[in-house]
Amino acid sequence: MDRYAVIGSPVSHSKSPFIHGRFAEATGQSMSYEALEIAPEALAERLAQLHAEGYRGFNVTLPHKLAVARLCGQVSERAQLAGAVNTLLRTEGGWQGDNSDGEGFVTDLRRNCGIGLAGKRVLVIGAGGAARGILQPLLGEKPAELVLSSRNPWKPEEIAEQFKPQGRITPRTHASLKGDLYDVIVNATSTGHQGFMPKLPGPLLAPGGACYDLSYGKAHEPFAAWARAQGAARIADGLGMLVEQAAVSFALWRGVRPETATVLAELRAA
Ligand SMILES: NC(=O)c1ccc[n+]([C@@H]2O[C@H](COP(=O)([O-])OP(=O)(O)OC[C@H]3O[C@@H](n4cnc5c(N)ncnc54)[C@H](OP(=O)(O)O)[C@@H]3O)[C@@H](O)[C@H]2O)c1
Repeated sequence: MDRYAVIGSPVSHSKSPFIHGRFAEATGQSMSYEALEIAPEALAERLAQLHAEGYRGFNVTLPHKLAVARLCGQVSERAQLAGAVNTLLRTEGGWQGDNSDGEGFVTDLRRNCGIGLAGKRVLVIGAGGAARGILQPLLGEKPAELVLSSRNPWKPEEIAEQFKPQGRITPRTHASLKGDLYDVIVNATSTGHQGFMPKLPGPLLAPGGACYDLSYGKAHEPFAAWARAQGAARIADGLGMLVEQAAVSFALWRGVRPETATVLAELRAA
């Protein structure tokens, strides 16, 4: 039986074992999937060990998404652009790194949320790791405008410069957004985990606009409340992205893309 796992610290809360277990059942794959707690200082040694033990691949969660890239023999172009690795594939001599977050994000928007991006004015709030991961596929959807906003101007400016070959990103600060209106607003900050939204100036959502949050569960509540106050026609959390990015990783490992609707419905019902 081929062995897979999610690695992180902490990792016991991860929904990945449930999701991949259901994918394996549905597609008839002979594989196991577990959660492995690995401390940051033990990462290099444990990855070598797990390779020797025959593991076929991993999902990577916090705090290893950056560090693991330096331990890969090869890193895909999209993971290099994202500056983070969330999927490891076994190679003969070590590990190959990839990032399935961006593809999971656009698939969720399109398939599960019915939120289109083509020709839309799109605002991404927060310029951390997850924002970097969704920018390339987001540009690929051909929005009329893509604005990246942060508390200070430096991160969005640096990212806009780096992504120039992929397309135009307008760097802004939250405060400077005052008076703008967007068709789709994506929350890529982590502040929902602390129970609040970053301070944003006035109305930002155009009539009929949609709001999408990368966070889910309790961490989604502050953004959902803000989106309701903006009069959003559609509000979505990041649970669908979680399932879709897992399906992308699963397909990279097993060569078969699992159906996601059932697992997503089960997670929502739980
Ligand atoms: N659904 C999924 O599959 C999925 C996948 C990946 C991540 N996520 C979620 O996405 C979120 C972001 O993750 P990440 O990895 O990008 O985290 P990160 O790299 O730590 O970035 C955090 C972001 O939050 C902002 N922030 C932090 N503290 C703040 C504060 N006090 N006030 C205002 N802004 C603050 C930062 O803003 P500045 O840019 O202003 O510094 C930064 O952009 C998390 O909630 C994570 O759970 C979901």
